[in-house]
Amino acid sequence: MTIRPGEEPPLVQFERVDPDDERAYGSWFSVLSRSELFRNRGGEEGWRVEEWRTRARDTGAATYSQLFRLTTAGDAVVAGALEVTRDDNLEWIRGELFVDPAERRRGFGSLFLSHLEDTARALGRRSLLFWVVEAHHEVGHGPSRHFAPRHGYDNVEESVRRDIAWPRPVRASSSLHQHASADASSYRVVAWRAPTDEARLGERAQLFSVMPLEVPDAGFGYEAERWDPERVAGHERRADAMGRDLFVAQAYHEGSGEVVGFSELTVSRERPAVAYQWDTLVTRPHRGHGLGALMKLANMDQLDASRYPTKTIVTYNAANNAAMIAVNDALGARVNGGIVTWRKVLN
Ligand SMILES: CC(C)(COP(=O)(O)OP(=O)(O)OC[C@H]1O[C@@H](n2cnc3c(N)ncnc32)[C@H](O)[C@@H]1OP(=O)(O)O)[C@@H](O)C(=O)NCCC(=O)NCCS
Repeated sequence: MTIRPGEEPPLVQFERVDPDDERAYGSWFSVLSRSELFRNRGGEEGWRVEEWRTRARDTGAATYSQLFRLTTAGDAVVAGALEVTRDDNLEWIRGELFVDPAERRRGFGSLFLSHLEDTARALGRRSLLFWVVEAHHEVGHGPSRHFAPRHGYDNVEESVRRDIAWPRPVRASSSLHQHASADASSYRVVAWRAPTDEARLGERAQLFSVMPLEVPDAGFGYEAERWDPERVAGHERRADAMGRDLFVAQAYHEGSGEVVGFSELTVSRERPAVAYQWDTLVTRPHRGHGLGALMKLANMDQLDASRYPTKTIVTYNAANNAAMIAVNDALGARVNGGIVTWRKVLN
């Protein structure tokens, strides 16, 4: 935006974006894409167009995204979102904010943020959090490091991205498998591709419910989530609608039959070069038996069998999650960027 002397500044508007309004959603998504490409120096594309649309359409779901944009004279210059939870974690809300790289340092980010904070307040939320991805070359000094503290945000967590080169040498994984299996003789790992059989949906719901309480606590008040079989099925349907295959592994204690952990790995059918490790959990009493590694390996076997031309598996861990980092290091992971989490208590 360039305003010439004597010209009226163009109208600046903050508005909700309807994911089914092609023009509005298209302009929202192109700001997001340009921002991700800029961050990654053109190297790695981010989200696919259908993925955010799917998340925004699903307004009856336990979580869905409300999309917002800031326009000047009708052109989108900022794209952002709020992730609305329906049943749990109602004290806080997650936000997203991306300023078009060509439009930065003109105050648009600050203006958008104040509208987003108002919207979060109107939804009854007491704090707003951002998980901001930093590419390898900007870890520790991405633009949010200046912008967020200036607007009263505290850094509450640092996470590290690790990449596992794929396909991986078979020998490395089989020695890890042997090592972990020896420790896990009283456990059984079962893996499948979503959708999950009805009989196992309840077990998945039980594990998802406790997940926020079982990860290392960053101190910003995660509470248990309310998952039931229908919410798990919805989560899997959404991944499918986003164009993703979802591989699931679960661990069981042989003696009691109790389900003690799960891990998810996902790959986009249309853009399979990068696969993502999603959540992994081993419940506290069953840690230290190599189950995290075994479940991840079971999903990697599924990825291998699917024959996608995947080159990298990306995984994120909180910097203080030593156990998961050790598993990823044993899988040959290399640090390649991070995520910084910002939080502000809204007055
Ligand atoms: C961070 C981001 C949102 C800033 O947007 P923006 O429109 O450039 O921000 P503003 O122009 O409102 O900047 C407000 C102030 O923040 C600080 N700031 C913003 N970007 C900065 C940078 N790259 N370096 C130093 N300070 C910066 C400055 O103090 C700036 O005021 P000034 O320009 O008068 O010095 C934008 O760079 C972006 O989209 N980055 C990628 C995604 C992201 O990091 N989102 C942040 C979520 S918290």
